[in-house]
Amino acid sequence: MKGLKDKVVIVSGGATLIGAAVARAFVAEGARVVIADIDTRGGTALATELGECCRFIATDVTRDADIEACVAATLKAFGGVDCLVNVAAAYVDNGFDSPREDWEKAFAINVFGAVMFLRACRPHLKNGGTVVNFGSTSAGVAQAGRWTYPATKAAVLQFTRSAALDLAADGIRVNAVSPGWTWSGILDQISGGDRDKVNAVAKPFHMLGRIGDPAEVADAVLFLCSDHARFITGTNLAVDGGYAALGPEQGLSPITELMS
Ligand SMILES: NC(=O)c1ccc[n+]([C@@H]2O[C@H](COP(=O)([O-])OP(=O)(O)OC[C@H]3O[C@@H](n4cnc5c(N)ncnc54)[C@H](O)[C@@H]3O)[C@@H](O)[C@H]2O)c1
Repeated sequence: MKGLKDKVVIVSGGATLIGAAVARAFVAEGARVVIADIDTRGGTALATELGECCRFIATDVTRDADIEACVAATLKAFGGVDCLVNVAAAYVDNGFDSPREDWEKAFAINVFGAVMFLRACRPHLKNGGTVVNFGSTSAGVAQAGRWTYPATKAAVLQFTRSAALDLAADGIRVNAVSPGWTWSGILDQISGGDRDKVNAVAKPFHMLGRIGDPAEVADAVLFLCSDHARFITGTNLAVDGGYAALGPEQGLSPITELMS
């Protein structure tokens, strides 16, 4: 993709499947990547795999001091920051039963972490800088037993629009991706590693009949950061196999049923 070679990219939450796919994809385009994550083991292993063009910086996005230190370490290692990808998130959610501390934790990681990372990077982002935040299909629909996580993702999408407007004059683009179900640590864990089972469950509500792959989400992130997307800002790109476009009727034919 155009315009990614030699760019310096910070990927928060880059240590696990989806974030790691983003990091790998940037490195494959010749970019330099900093993985900012609390998962020291996974982050170190990935940075070792990716070599000289990648660093792992242990970073808790709920701590401003960690974020500042991560940005400083990025400047020291690679001399600048061109792109920020806010992947880090937590699935803290007990629906109606979520106490205040769960709401605060979910917002602290999923929303405030992304906002504060952008604030810390902002002085170093030049004209042409890009930011990609992670929304979710969960941001736009009601899901049984889920209250906190969808609310955080809706907030991320609104923050994306606000930031896009206020940074546009300086030539910085801010966008979001909203994945549908994507093969990830949580789906691996819940399904006992059975991707076929996950695909079968997800099939009725993803037009393409399967879950997404981390690399497919990463491709969309790279596109938004590339020169191909130079006139795109403030948008939310669904990377969801048609999940969000599929209404309650799903792929069924209720009219046909009525006529029968
Ligand atoms: N998995 C899906 O199906 C799906 C669907 C829609 C959206 N998403 C979004 O995609 C992104 C990745 O999802 P995932 O399922 O791979 O999540 P995940 O939980 O597997 O990975 C998130 C990463 O964030 C890191 N992290 C958590 N708390 C942190 C903190 N305080 N500071 C720094 N890092 C922290 C974790 O260590 C992990 O590496 C998330 O933003 C998620 O909301 C995922």
